[in-house]
Amino acid sequence: MKIVKKLALAAGIATLLSTASWADGLQGKVIGFSQIGSESGWRAAETSVTKAQAEERGIDLKFADAQQKQENQIKAIRGFIAQGVDAILVAPVVSTGWEEVLGEAKEANIPVVLLDRGVDAPQDLYLTSVASDQVKEGHVAGDWLVGNVGDKECKVVELQGTVGSSPAINRKKGFEDAIAGHANLSIIRSQTGDFTRSKGKEVMEGFLKAEGGGKGICAVYAHNDDMAVGAIQAIKDAGLKPGSDILVVSIDGVPDIFSAMVAGEANATVELTPNMAGPAFDALDAYLNGGKEPEKFIITESKLYTPADDPQGEYDRRKGLGY
Ligand code: AHR
Repeated sequence: MKIVKKLALAAGIATLLSTASWADGLQGKVIGFSQIGSESGWRAAETSVTKAQAEERGIDLKFADAQQKQENQIKAIRGFIAQGVDAILVAPVVSTGWEEVLGEAKEANIPVVLLDRGVDAPQDLYLTSVASDQVKEGHVAGDWLVGNVGDKECKVVELQGTVGSSPAINRKKGFEDAIAGHANLSIIRSQTGDFTRSKGKEVMEGFLKAEGGGKGICAVYAHNDDMAVGAIQAIKDAGLKPGSDILVVSIDGVPDIFSAMVAGEANATVELTPNMAGPAFDALDAYLNGGKEPEKFIITESKLYTPADDPQGEYDRRKGLGY
């Protein structure tokens, strides 16, 4: 990494961490982190912030990138257990299939903290889960659309996240709940874009083609900003104006979506903080040092941003955070 970029990243992350307060209780602890991969800008920022948080607290963080594969995550977790780490963080790529390996960690007395995604497994298999309320995120996005289209007929295309992941399942549900009862709004096409920019673009191109060039599409709802940015490109390539011909609403709050808002090409995003590690380490500190059981679910905020919320300022505030 270039030195200027490195300094900007350090300065940005220092600002993000400056409000945190903790005892120095995790100094010297060894903590394994099984990360999903680097499918999105948000994921890259979560990785950067987690590493910075660990460094700040003197934690020896063992980082494992699963490259989108659950089997790699399970392997990494087993490796952490074999090393006898003090705790494990895991961002689970999909929600099912975790019981066995989480049971092994429990058996070894190693607390596990889930980051940013949920699992379908008994709650006693993990210490706590630090994540947003993903149903609410979808609901906030849907409410924004409902409030903005009024009585006009609005055909929506949906770019879903990774199949089987908790944000894809829950953000879909929240959005559907929000538009239910508004007969003028309907989802006419829905497909996974796997949370990536390139897939988002590709799937949006398919939607546009299937819908006669896109003239009948009123809005795209993307389960993350990266797919929305890909969709924006596809809409432009099709000769339409994203942000006006086709409304764009998504989730994450990454710098590029704020740039798109500045350009009039995106309409709304629901912020997801990349700082999941701060609350996770605080919970582990209290648990490992004071035996204090944390809340089972530590829920982060889901704030809506639109072009009325100083998108240039929001871009500037985030650009040094490792997105
Ligand atoms: O689990 C959080 C989601 O995963 C983010 O919204 C998305 O960008 C990421 O890949």
